[in-house]
Amino acid sequence: MRVYVLNGPNLGRLGSRQVDVYGVTSYADLADMCADVGAELGLDVVVRQTDAEHELIGWLHAAADEGAAVVLNPAAWSHYSIAVRDACAMLRGPLVEVHISNIHAREEFRHHSVVSAVATGVICGLGVDGYRLALHHLAARPASQVS
Ligand code: DQA
Repeated sequence: MRVYVLNGPNLGRLGSRQVDVYGVTSYADLADMCADVGAELGLDVVVRQTDAEHELIGWLHAAADEGAAVVLNPAAWSHYSIAVRDACAMLRGPLVEVHISNIHAREEFRHHSVVSAVATGVICGLGVDGYRLALHHLAARPASQVS
């Protein structure tokens, strides 16, 4: 099963960005971890990050066309991008929204994600482990289960 692990703006700076909030794992280490976990689980994992909204939307369109599963950390776009949400709503496979930090325990503007209502499930506050948990969920999820 193909799984796209897609990351929004500033996540490429993991490891040096607000380490008290996001931890010391670099983006490169996160990408390697997702590839390793995917290989263990027999998933075909593709990991990407972008700071350009149109690029993420293009990747979501491709995932929708393929019927692929998506693990998405929309980062700041979570809180205001109706365009990202609309692209997520087109997905035919399951969508797991991941946030490294607990967005509900942070500034009020982070409490709401416009993506969550169209996600299959949401993991937040568990650090980069959230990505591993999302991949385990997708690997264990019955193929017949609709999102
Ligand atoms: C984030 C939380 C967002 O509020 C923030 O804008 C991010 C990262 C997280 O993973 O905790 O860039 O999505």
